[in-house]
Amino acid sequence: MAIFNLTINGKKHQVDVAPETPVLWVLRDHANLVGTKFGCGIGQCGACTIHIDGVATRSCSLPVSGAADKKITTIEGLSENANHPLQEAWIEHDVPQCGYCQAGQIMNAASLLKNNPNPTDSDIDAAMNGNICRCGTYVRIKAAIKTAAEKMS
Ligand code: FES
Ligand code: FES
Repeated sequence: MAIFNLTINGKKHQVDVAPETPVLWVLRDHANLVGTKFGCGIGQCGACTIHIDGVATRSCSLPVSGAADKKITTIEGLSENANHPLQEAWIEHDVPQCGYCQAGQIMNAASLLKNNPNPTDSDIDAAMNGNICRCGTYVRIKAAIKTAAEKMS
């Protein structure tokens, strides 16, 4: 075990965990931030996507030792009042079905729009390719990303 000082959604957290503990478990079990979901646990589905220093990252595959002194952002911290243009577009397009994958989808899309504010269809396909939705909401996800991009431009 070791002490790690983390900054999550702008707040300081101190945790005493094994260095190899995935950030996903620290978020869910220690910081009580359960919006980030466990899907595959091996970096293959995107359900656990968060931002590390603004970059979309799979929290199931990142040891806590790699996140200390970095800025961690989860779906709970993406915006002040769940009013990021993507979150509003998600509601407008009624994107979620079961909802399980959606936090990861939004966090990945937010990273995309930060780097590429006006993505083409193929840019969206390429960026979102690794985020799996077992309910098949892909068409609505793409439409919502386009709506958010328009609002942000
Ligand atoms: S739970 Fe992390 S990528 Fe699937
Ligand atoms: S909305 Fe059900 S897994 Fe994506």
